[in-house]
Amino acid sequence: MNQKYLEKEIEKYARDILQARNFNRTKTFIQHGNMTVHMHCMNVAKYSLLFSKKLDRLGIHCKKRALIRGALLHDYFLYDWHDPDHVKLYNLHGFKHPFVALRNAKRDFGVTSREEEIIQKHMWPLTVIPPTCREAWIVSFADKWCSILETLHFHKGTGVVRIETGK
Ligand SMILES: [Fe+2]
Ligand SMILES: [Fe+2]
Repeated sequence: MNQKYLEKEIEKYARDILQARNFNRTKTFIQHGNMTVHMHCMNVAKYSLLFSKKLDRLGIHCKKRALIRGALLHDYFLYDWHDPDHVKLYNLHGFKHPFVALRNAKRDFGVTSREEEIIQKHMWPLTVIPPTCREAWIVSFADKWCSILETLHFHKGTGVVRIETGK
């Protein structure tokens, strides 16, 4: 499965998200190292698709639309979590950002209950209550996988992009 195929699938199910100015603001925030939140979320969506394809072959099927949209929006918190002001304001980023992301996603796009589950539970076990759908398990695993690759610099980003902000 190549990059072009994965990008086409994401585009097919989430064109509105990809084109939204507020979503593109995630290009201005760093996740780990030189990796923007935007690129991280794209990678998590791609790995979620890859893992779901593998499960497909085992007869375990997923709702692709929810999987992709939930993956893209799982870190839609829209602030720089490295900024000292935000560290103070958003203390305990690890615990709180799934709920901030969910609030923003509901406001800007509306989310299904499955997408809500994906966003809210992606930090499990930090957020204690485990995911209740397989799409949320897949995104949670893909997120951890991508974070490890970013931290070990196997995934390299291109740094922040300066863009006009606003929705
Ligand atoms: Fe996250
Ligand atoms: Fe993430």
